[in-house]
Amino acid sequence: MLEQLEKLYQDAMAELEAVTSSEALREWDSRTLGQKGAVTLLLRGIGGLPKEERADFGKRANEVKLALAEAFAARETLVREHELARDLEEGQIDVTLPGRGRAVGGLHPSTQTLRELYHIWADMGFQVYRSRDVESDEMNFTLLNIPEHHPARDMWDTFHTTTPGVILRTHTSPGQVRAMRELGGDGSQPIRVILPGMCYRYEQVTTRSEMQFHQLEGLAIGRNIRMSDLKGTVTEFARRMFGANAAVRFRASYFPFTEPSMEIDVECFLCGGSGCRVCKYAGWLEIAGAGMVHPTVLRNGGYDPSQWSGFAFGMGPERMAMLKHGITDIRYFWGNDLRFLEQF
Ligand code: DAH
Repeated sequence: MLEQLEKLYQDAMAELEAVTSSEALREWDSRTLGQKGAVTLLLRGIGGLPKEERADFGKRANEVKLALAEAFAARETLVREHELARDLEEGQIDVTLPGRGRAVGGLHPSTQTLRELYHIWADMGFQVYRSRDVESDEMNFTLLNIPEHHPARDMWDTFHTTTPGVILRTHTSPGQVRAMRELGGDGSQPIRVILPGMCYRYEQVTTRSEMQFHQLEGLAIGRNIRMSDLKGTVTEFARRMFGANAAVRFRASYFPFTEPSMEIDVECFLCGGSGCRVCKYAGWLEIAGAGMVHPTVLRNGGYDPSQWSGFAFGMGPERMAMLKHGITDIRYFWGNDLRFLEQF
């Protein structure tokens, strides 16, 4: 068997010398060193040898195995180099082919819009106040001058939780009361905050309404804040957001938590007011609801309405992003379609 082993060694080495392709190399490997290879098979026969010969045979067999494996590795390197050189020569690797770009993540268009809004409002002295998404019925409605069973609650279709009185906020306005109570020093301190966050409504999802969306609420409380401050502040905001020439108009409206209330439009920046598809040929785009904080709400926040006043507004970042980028369907925002998201 020892002779058989030596012969196998010689033959295998000679065969390896003749191997010139990876394919032949693989074939030699499985035939010689593989699980069903010649060396393995020969080693299995060790049990048939007389006891005293086994040790010598085993030792030699392992030496042979090692030598073959080393020779194989050396040959493999050689063959690889050879093949690479050949491929290069034949032009199989086209080094002029442009590399593949690596996709990097990006910020969601809503996040981008929110950050733009934070910057603008921060420059105007407004600080971010974070309020909760899961709210009490009381904060979301009652304290905002919308009593239980009052028909004004129909303005907001609400998601209720299984805990009575606990809901998902339908707007960021309840944060007004929380901010007043936390930052107001029992009705002794002025406030200037913006309150960004996700809102939830039990709505039919359509191209124009989603059941979740962001709002950015604003609140300013002080001793002599008047309607003209609200108008001036919003006008300045619109200029910074939509350009120095952005025209703004105010329309009388109704919200239970402000009096008087209004809706704010900017001149359509796509058509310059002459009318187009985006502004539905009105020339104006609605960007926010606003008004002077209702005395009841001031009182609920801890302020004496005979000494203090304030303005508030609520705007929709997704709506602004839609207007700015000409997005025609709000459902894209939470659809997680990369073809949409990658455009921003
Ligand atoms: N909370 C209102 C809504 O979701 C928006 C709003 C209107 C907020 C007027 C305000 C405001 O702060 O003054 O429809």
